[in-house]
Amino acid sequence: MKLLAAFALLIDLRAAIQAALLPTLYALWLEPLLLLRPTALSRTFMAYVWAAFADVVDEGGREVKADLITPNATGIVLDIGAGHGHTINYLDRSKITKYVALEPNTLMHHEIRARATEAGYSETNGTLLILSCGAEDTESIISSLRVDDQPPLCDTIVSVLTLCSVPRPEEVLTTLARDVLKPGGQLLFYEHVLSPRSDVAWWQRFWTPVWKTAFDGCRLDRPTHLWVQNIKPRDDSVAPALFWRDESRAWGKPGEPEEHLFWHQTGRFVKA
Ligand SMILES: C[S@@+](CC[C@H](N)C(=O)[O-])C[C@H]1O[C@@H](n2cnc3c(N)ncnc32)[C@H](O)[C@@H]1O
Repeated sequence: MKLLAAFALLIDLRAAIQAALLPTLYALWLEPLLLLRPTALSRTFMAYVWAAFADVVDEGGREVKADLITPNATGIVLDIGAGHGHTINYLDRSKITKYVALEPNTLMHHEIRARATEAGYSETNGTLLILSCGAEDTESIISSLRVDDQPPLCDTIVSVLTLCSVPRPEEVLTTLARDVLKPGGQLLFYEHVLSPRSDVAWWQRFWTPVWKTAFDGCRLDRPTHLWVQNIKPRDDSVAPALFWRDESRAWGKPGEPEEHLFWHQTGRFVKA
């Protein structure tokens, strides 16, 4: 692997520090007790990073997201790690009954609410729900979505650049797919994942401790697309492949160099 590609992420790291360090220090000055709450401090830094770069990152994935989300998302949509709600821009409003934004960083809720309101979703009429828990808190997700003791069944789960940060991702994916997604529902994801190339994977593992410290737990070394493929039905006697319909598949980002440390996979998986 070329050294330039192996160290390219330092440019992003420097840009993020330039954008977010001073405002984070200011937040710390206003509230010194943040030092005793490392998660809150990390989320403050991440909120400033995302304020500076969310639009740029969105632009980089625009074509992929338009192809993945716009024609497929329907009904009740659960957007895990909603950030500033950029997924809303790709939803066809006429096909969506409710947009559920799961975002544990409450500093981002204002942007989600503003974008959702502009697109015609409202908390008052029940077409918008913002949840503050992490994706790993599947019990809270299920109880927040439950209506009249019916199981909480989403038509679409969207994950864009989020499963890299979720604790216990395999378990969380399995629970969401089994217990939150309805039969015939779709899991749509666009994630950076562990590269199949051993040299790229080596650098991804090398950088992960630094990257996850700076960016609220974001890891470069997760084979998320393979974990999705391998989700098994609860009943062990049923073959894993039967969890998803045959049309389910994952694919790469067109034109992305193989040496990219943020090697992306896009997936549309339809529950059998
Ligand atoms: C890189 S941003 C992507 C935001 C959005 N999906 C987008 O593409 O514009 C990752 C998001 O995941 C959120 N996140 C971090 N930990 C999470 C968790 N445990 N569960 C759900 N979301 C999480 C972060 O707060 C952040 O908003």
